[in-house]
Amino acid sequence: MTIWKVTDHVAIADQMMRLTMEAEGELPDYRPGQFLHIRVTDGFDHLLRRPISLCLVEPDTKQLTIVYRISGKGTKLLSEKRKGDRLDVLGPLGQSFPIHTGDRHALLIGGGIGVPPMLELAKQLAGKGIRVTTIVGFQSAKQAILIEELSAYGEVLVATNDGSLGRQGLVTEYMTDGLLALADRFYACGPSPMLSAVQRVMQDKVDGYLSLEERMGCGIGLCAGCVHKAKLPDGTVGYRKVCKEGPVFPAQEVVFHG
Ligand SMILES: Cc1cc2nc3c(=O)[nH]c(=O)nc-3n(C[C@H](O)[C@H](O)[C@H](O)COP(=O)(O)OP(=O)(O)OC[C@H]3O[C@@H](n4cnc5c(N)ncnc54)[C@H](O)[C@@H]3O)c2cc1C
Ligand code: FES
Repeated sequence: MTIWKVTDHVAIADQMMRLTMEAEGELPDYRPGQFLHIRVTDGFDHLLRRPISLCLVEPDTKQLTIVYRISGKGTKLLSEKRKGDRLDVLGPLGQSFPIHTGDRHALLIGGGIGVPPMLELAKQLAGKGIRVTTIVGFQSAKQAILIEELSAYGEVLVATNDGSLGRQGLVTEYMTDGLLALADRFYACGPSPMLSAVQRVMQDKVDGYLSLEERMGCGIGLCAGCVHKAKLPDGTVGYRKVCKEGPVFPAQEVVFHG
């Protein structure tokens, strides 16, 4: 467990907050795709922590940024934290997105609250000289986040359900054979229906990774509150713990139906 000091906390879109915090000691080694398990209150109510992805790490200033949607009681309590408050954080937790240094072009796909982890990933891929194209999807323009920040690392293609920003429809609208032919690998994070659609489109075309947004309890592999259907190492289908074995899995190992 680490204590962090909140240095900035602002609304960046409808119900979407950006929180930046500073490490009091050494900045731990964070990798893109990992998450923080944040205790949202000091009281006895809502003792459970809430998992939020790492969005951006700035080692020089020892700052770390998360971006989250106010969805229920836990994130509402988190949104009440002010500059100077201290946060009790477990992490970094979980498996990160592997970076393949031989790749030339990576396709990143984020939907809604699955967009934040794409920023640190895009930064690190671009830093290794890998060309990045990011497809982001939102309900509408009011929920759109991080487009400008992602644009610093490559082309960003936007889709919204209602057509109020970018192309109307789902992120898969952009996943044409032409674009897929250019990509060495894909990385996706978002709601299950989006990940399932991405998996279907990419199958047998491009290898990649899916980051699952399962509900969580302990966050460290003890309670089995986060299991998702997946292929096991022996080839059978079973359940794997998203908090510890994930949230990032090779795309072909995740089972959505059946
Ligand atoms: C590995 C991981 C990384 C995550 N990263 C982010 C992030 O970067 N930004 C962000 O905004 N959210 C992220 N989430 C989702 C976030 O943890 C939940 O939105 C949050 O825990 C909801 O807590 P609550 O008490 O506010 O809402 P609750 O009262 O618990 O739930 C309110 C609503 O949110 C839905 N919800 C709850 N948990 C999840 C979940 N895990 N995924 C999707 N919907 C959920 C519920 O179904 C309900 O509709 C992440 C989840 C995981 C597992
Ligand atoms: S949340 Fe407890 S095992 Fe994953």
